[in-house]
Amino acid sequence: MKDGHCGFYGLIFVFIFLLHFTNGELDYSIQEEMKLGSIIGNIARDLGIDVGRLTARKARIETERNIAYCDINRRTGELTVAKRIDREVLCGERASCFVKFELLFESPLELHRMSLKIDDINDNTPLFPKDTIKLEITESADKGARYRVNAAHDADIGQNGVQSYILQENKHFILNTQTTSAGIKYAELVLNQELDREEQKGIQLLLTAIDGGSPQRSGTLTIDVTVLDANDNAPVFSQAVYEASLPENSPLKTHVITVSATDADEGVNGEVTYEFNKMSDKSRTLFSLDQKTGDVTVIGDIDFEEGSKYEIYIEAKDGYGLSTDTKVIICITDANDNAPIISVKSLTNPVPENVSPGTEVGIINVQDMDSEQNRQIRCFIQHNMPFKLIPSIKNYYSLVTTDKLDRELMPHYNITITAIDEGSPPLSSLNTVQVAIADVNDNPPVFEEQSYSSYVPENNKPGHSLCSVKAHDPDWRQNGTVIYSLLPGEVNGAPVSSYLSVNGDTGVIQSVRSFDYEQFRTFKVYVIARDNGSPPLSSNVTVSVLITDVNDNTPQILYPTPEGNSFMTELVPKDAQGGSLVSKVIAVDGDSGQNAWLSYQIIKSTDPGLFKIDLHSGEIRTQRDISDSDNMKQNIVVAVKDNGQPSLSATCSMFLLISDNLAEVPELKDMADEDSSSKLTSYLIIALVSVSTFFLTFIIIILGLRFCRRKKPRLLFDGAVAIPSSYLPPNYADVDGTGTLRSAYNYDAYLTTGSRTSDFKFVTSYNDNTLPADQTLRKNPTDFEEVFGDLDVSPEVGII
Ligand SMILES: *[C@@H]1O[C@H](CO)[C@@H](O)[C@H](O)[C@H]1NC(C)=O
Ligand SMILES: *[C@@H]1O[C@H](CO)[C@@H](O)[C@H](O)[C@H]1NC(C)=O
Ligand SMILES: *[C@@H]1O[C@H](CO)[C@@H](O)[C@H](O)[C@H]1NC(C)=O
Repeated sequence: MKDGHCGFYGLIFVFIFLLHFTNGELDYSIQEEMKLGSIIGNIARDLGIDVGRLTARKARIETERNIAYCDINRRTGELTVAKRIDREVLCGERASCFVKFELLFESPLELHRMSLKIDDINDNTPLFPKDTIKLEITESADKGARYRVNAAHDADIGQNGVQSYILQENKHFILNTQTTSAGIKYAELVLNQELDREEQKGIQLLLTAIDGGSPQRSGTLTIDVTVLDANDNAPVFSQAVYEASLPENSPLKTHVITVSATDADEGVNGEVTYEFNKMSDKSRTLFSLDQKTGDVTVIGDIDFEEGSKYEIYIEAKDGYGLSTDTKVIICITDANDNAPIISVKSLTNPVPENVSPGTEVGIINVQDMDSEQNRQIRCFIQHNMPFKLIPSIKNYYSLVTTDKLDRELMPHYNITITAIDEGSPPLSSLNTVQVAIADVNDNPPVFEEQSYSSYVPENNKPGHSLCSVKAHDPDWRQNGTVIYSLLPGEVNGAPVSSYLSVNGDTGVIQSVRSFDYEQFRTFKVYVIARDNGSPPLSSNVTVSVLITDVNDNTPQILYPTPEGNSFMTELVPKDAQGGSLVSKVIAVDGDSGQNAWLSYQIIKSTDPGLFKIDLHSGEIRTQRDISDSDNMKQNIVVAVKDNGQPSLSATCSMFLLISDNLAEVPELKDMADEDSSSKLTSYLIIALVSVSTFFLTFIIIILGLRFCRRKKPRLLFDGAVAIPSSYLPPNYADVDGTGTLRSAYNYDAYLTTGSRTSDFKFVTSYNDNTLPADQTLRKNPTDFEEVFGDLDVSPEVGII
């Protein structure tokens, strides 16, 4: 039989045709029980879509309960059978049977409703409720008496259902075929010739039910007729069809309906019992029937979604087997017992952070298996999210961005989708999807500081770490990996890289060479922080390097010259009062600030009580009036000390000759003519020396000032000249005059000449930049010669 079926189906001409295609709805028709893989139609052709686009647009079939009867071959566009389609299981007795599903395309979301009409084939045989029935008929029955036989049922419909009955040839009965109001054909046996129990106790008849399919199918029933005494009346139901309505989820033992039949006979002949006749296996698990009372009760879980309508045949039988049947239709009413189901049909994950607002990132489908109001759904996501749900086709929603995304602020979102149906009470469900945000290199590195500066003591070792720069980039992985480098450029004419280096990973800046404060005090470089993205982003920052002074220059005594000679003798007038200015020690220091702040001290003297030196100005004065008893030759040793840590010092010695004051010099000259030529000569020499000294001192101070502005004055003054001076206003070097430092790194040094007799004041600065280019002195020895050459040529240029 099975093999026969297969052959039978195999022979069926595949009779598929496209019904119509309007408004995006595709209708196909197919016979039930087609082999898996049978082609139903070609979607690409019917929708006019290029076959190649089906894969790209992720064409797929969506069904409500995820029972996929059909499938699409995305390569060919063919719609094929994917699951056995049994019309009787799907639609039961319904006259027309449709399977509905949706064809979904993505980007953009597009939905086509599809409807597949399932045509019946004659795959079911008419079946009688029982194989055999017993019929007890009294011998007294009249000719023409009718005996109803329960109808045979065929699960197929229409022409494939039961069409006629054939009764086996016999002496006593003929067949009469009747149709109920519900359209069911049943057979009646009509007594054609009286029975005689004495002649024949029983008769066996074969009743065949035939359907109208092609080829025909048939079912048989054996009727055992027992000849009895009278039982004339079959039970009669009070209604031809009973209908009951039952809410789903009704508890066990819920009463559904009571059927009742009466039998006009009395006694055993009138005792009616009920039993189920024809019913599906499913309904057999749900309902029970009380044999005596006809009460139908619930014995299983009633689920509207599994079946909304049950048709049951109940047979009422009297004591001797005359029976009638009736149909009970039980309609299940829906209760809101199914929460909406949220399914994420597609999701772009992760979403690049640079997508523009309004980009679709996902497709959500919500379903509710209940019906009517109970399946109306509202769907939304939580607030404060740069996303929203836009209702799309039918029960589909698009998840779109509403705002710019920033991975650095929010690397992922937990989007909770809530769906609520409109039942009462409503049911809801939640589904949380995590959408990760993918990084895009949209942040340049940012330095922690606006600018950096580093103080480095001069004479540093190459490789000395000055400072470190740090930049942060919040991007992810290589997009946020910062690499440091120096912006190529020049400092004082040399490439930046010959001064500094920066560690690409750590940002630590190291010196490449040793710096000299006296050469330059500050320079600026740019450090770039660049991330590793593609393209990379970068930012830069200035790093100022400030070289600080170290006390590496000893004070230089300009006057008197350190080694001392006869010219260094100063004249002290005999009548000098206490506090008279006698001489002045002049010293300079190549350093700056504290390191160049000089102090003077007499460390040794012939007569300790006679002279004192001003700590700051270096002016040597008498402490008391000179008396005749004082030694004419006085010798003092002066130490000049800077204020560095540790301090450096230099010493010089000075010879002082207590003699008449210089105002008497002209008179001395005169007197020399008269008195002593040796004395006059010595006065003349002194006068000449004094004039020269004044001039030389002046020149040296100017030179000194200029060379001080440059570097290491010692280069110039080491062993330069002997400068005798006596009455000329002594010069002194002081820094800032006040001994206080204005700034450690940039200050002016004032060198003044004379404390009371002279008024020049040289104001200059150690800052190279303030020196006009044309005034820059080179430390070329020939320059010195030129200067001193000048001295030789015109020693007496009068400034006096
Ligand atoms: C998202 O959910 C995960 C796990 O459920 C949790 O670890 C994470 O913190 C949540 N993120 C946010 C932004 O709430
Ligand atoms: C870095 O950014 C680029 C775009 O600028 C992106 O394509 C890449 O995936 C990012 N890398 C990481 C590790 O996130
Ligand atoms: C350094 O940064 C400034 C602004 O921050 C920018 O204008 C300049 O182009 C940058 N220089 C380099 C060489 O990147």
